[in-house]
Amino acid sequence: MYFQIQKLQKPTIHVDAFLYNDDTIDILCEEGKMSRNYCMSCGSTKTAPLDFVSHSFSIPELRFLFHHAFPDLSGKTLLDVGSRLGAVLFAGYVYSSASRLYGVEINPELCDLQEKIINKYNFLDRIQVHHADICSQKTLLQGADVIVLNNVFEYFLNKEEQIKAWMFMYENLRKKGSLIVTVPGLKESFSKLQVNIQLSEWVEEIELDTDIFLGPDTDQDALSDIHLYKVL
Ligand SMILES: C[S@@+](CC[C@H](N)C(=O)[O-])C[C@H]1O[C@@H](n2cnc3c(N)ncnc32)[C@H](O)[C@@H]1O
Repeated sequence: MYFQIQKLQKPTIHVDAFLYNDDTIDILCEEGKMSRNYCMSCGSTKTAPLDFVSHSFSIPELRFLFHHAFPDLSGKTLLDVGSRLGAVLFAGYVYSSASRLYGVEINPELCDLQEKIINKYNFLDRIQVHHADICSQKTLLQGADVIVLNNVFEYFLNKEEQIKAWMFMYENLRKKGSLIVTVPGLKESFSKLQVNIQLSEWVEEIELDTDIFLGPDTDQDALSDIHLYKVL
């Protein structure tokens, strides 16, 4: 089967450029009369753009967080729940004065990767990564001033585990005035789960001004998915 696909000729559209310049082709594509894409399995031009979900913040998003969303973090402790590649921790090191940057990651290979970067760039004085399930890390959760929860449970845990994890967050993120960043918003996360959490008694949302130019590769929709809360 694989061999047959390899042997298929690449689908080619023959266009007379005298009649159809690039702009015209763009218009035809927009109207659905032509396509610049084809399905690589069957050669059909009936293709659709894929949905994308990012499993880590982009650099513009991180700049937005540390330069626009957070207050001065001097003397503060930040905890990234599910620190994955360490993006939040490394950005926190470079873009903020947070005194401690903790990451908790359940996947051991991702922890090794983060350790390598921490050692390579001498981040050890402020960054520490723990290989653990966040539900075993009460002390870190209770002591943090800023807690980051970027798409943390949705794609990695089943519904029952997600509910347990969110209940654990609810019980342990109680430090008055501490900040919680989530993607997506808590309301959206909880709308898909049966969690017994009274949001208005736990946190207050802080409006973020996302109308900020952070460079040509800024994805305004991704910025709008970032939610910031203050623990009451
Ligand atoms: C979407 S990534 C977040 C990436 C990172 N925080 C960032 O913003 O760049 C979610 C990460 O959470 C980790 N994770 C999921 N459940 C976890 C748990 N219960 N405890 C610790 N880490 C967990 C996953 O392995 C994954 O690496």
